[in-house]
Amino acid sequence: MSLTKKTSDLKKRMRDALMGGGQVAIEKQKATGKMTARERIIALVDPKSFHEYDLFVEHAGKDFNMGDKYLPGDGVITGTGTINGYPVCIYAQDFTVAGGSLGYMHAKKITKIMDHAMKLKVPIIGINDSGGARIQEGVNSLAGYGEIFYRNTQASGVIPQISVILGPCAGGAVYSPALTDFVFVVDKISKMFITGPEVIKTVLGEEISMEELGGARVQSEITGNAHFFAESEQECFDQIKTLCSFIPWNNIKKAEAFPKKPPRSRSYNIDKIFPTNPRQPYDVKDIIRSIVDDSEFFEVQSMFAANIVIGFARLNGHTAGFVANQPLVLAGVLDVDSSDKAARFIRYCDAFNIPLVTLVDLPGYLPGVDQEHAGVIRHGAKVLYAYSEATVPKMTVILRKAYGGGYIAMCSSHLKADFVFAWPTAEIAVMGPEGAANIIFRNEIKNAENPEEMRKLKIKEYKEKFANPYVAAAYGYVDAVVEPAETRNMLIHALEISAEKIEVRPNKKHGIPPF
Ligand code: HXC
Repeated sequence: MSLTKKTSDLKKRMRDALMGGGQVAIEKQKATGKMTARERIIALVDPKSFHEYDLFVEHAGKDFNMGDKYLPGDGVITGTGTINGYPVCIYAQDFTVAGGSLGYMHAKKITKIMDHAMKLKVPIIGINDSGGARIQEGVNSLAGYGEIFYRNTQASGVIPQISVILGPCAGGAVYSPALTDFVFVVDKISKMFITGPEVIKTVLGEEISMEELGGARVQSEITGNAHFFAESEQECFDQIKTLCSFIPWNNIKKAEAFPKKPPRSRSYNIDKIFPTNPRQPYDVKDIIRSIVDDSEFFEVQSMFAANIVIGFARLNGHTAGFVANQPLVLAGVLDVDSSDKAARFIRYCDAFNIPLVTLVDLPGYLPGVDQEHAGVIRHGAKVLYAYSEATVPKMTVILRKAYGGGYIAMCSSHLKADFVFAWPTAEIAVMGPEGAANIIFRNEIKNAENPEEMRKLKIKEYKEKFANPYVAAAYGYVDAVVEPAETRNMLIHALEISAEKIEVRPNKKHGIPPF
């Protein structure tokens, strides 16, 4: 056969393979508002940068008449490309081919591209649209997932792992994402569950729709399984590109530095955002925007445990991870969910050389039977563990309340913050003045001629003595009491002089953090 004929044979084979599950299945996919797997990759990576591999891989199923079936590429597309000019490894499951289900060769393609990502030290992005383990391939599909989970774990903290859920994902198709760093979902399109509604109906007799069971909103607001929520697939891909601009490509590198930009102070002015009345709530995200470059704050898990705010921003062009109590929600308390949310983010930043900035304003841990029985002790301990373990530069700013365990947990100098700044409005104490006065002056108040007057007097006395930053500053627990308007400058200086920070921890195989 001549070269021309061989080339045209290749082209025909490629055309057949590129049709995935065929025109009817593609139209069905599009009718549900979904892009095809290849369209998704093209929309995500830089133009013309995608190179596909293993297009001609064939499935290895033998049972249930699988031997006669043609499953192009075995239902998954793998390859390399670039995002923002930097290399990534990527795979996208093709729901038009056997529901994107994971058979032996499908899994081999994924593990091969994951191994590439680890060798090249670049991020791995997985677009999941799959019914999970391919039932007809039995233990071979389970083995495939096991191999993926093992690699997810080895890659954890070494290269960024990003999961996108773009379809009904069941079983292993959600466990692998759960092992990765960030999970992206799209309204109405993403569904995640271990077992779908059919199984739930059979086993428990309960009826529930896929959306109510594990839709994008459920995963973003209630479970916390998802980190980013988008209205459309395109918006989701734009979010991934933005995330990629903030994070380093592996755990040896630092995030790319950007040109420095001042905050947009007309829109975000601390004096206007921060209330004079200490009981009045405010939006801590606006405080962050008033401090950071171009007032751009890229929030993570914005819909889950909103009493704590986490996300990325830049200070003089350098990425920093922000953790801040949100006085607008539950007064910014730490509870089970907000502790989990903060602790995981702190560990992410630490693993990937991203300095941490913590903004403190909280009355402490949330009291209550529900919280105690939900394990607030072990969940809350995760924050202590994560901050204590972290060796990246750690800067803390106490804006207002820093009471009790909350003071210690929110990256205090005792957990080895490198710099602790406090605003003059800071109140650092074991508890709030009202509660404290009621306990320590109980007898004086009870025996006073006018107990109410005495209570007020004692609260005032307590406030003057403790509800300020100066006692902590006198012991050196606070490094500097700063005017709010000076915060940005103080943080930039602290961050820049910490650029080469090295902190060594005791040698160990690994710690045993509270789970
Ligand atoms: C083989 C599968 C499949 C699977 C879907 N398909 N899931 N084939 N193995 N796991 C096929 C369907 O037979 C169908 O083929 C096509 O994909 C589209 O599926 P539909 O059911 O028509 O689509 P939809 O109504 O949108 O429902 C999607 C779904 C549902 C919710 C994912 O298919 C489903 O519940 N699938 C089973 C999910 C599951 O229990 N997976 C096993 C998980 S266990 P045709 O030929 O008709 O087009 C697991 C083990 C690892 O993953 C766990 C590790 C901890």
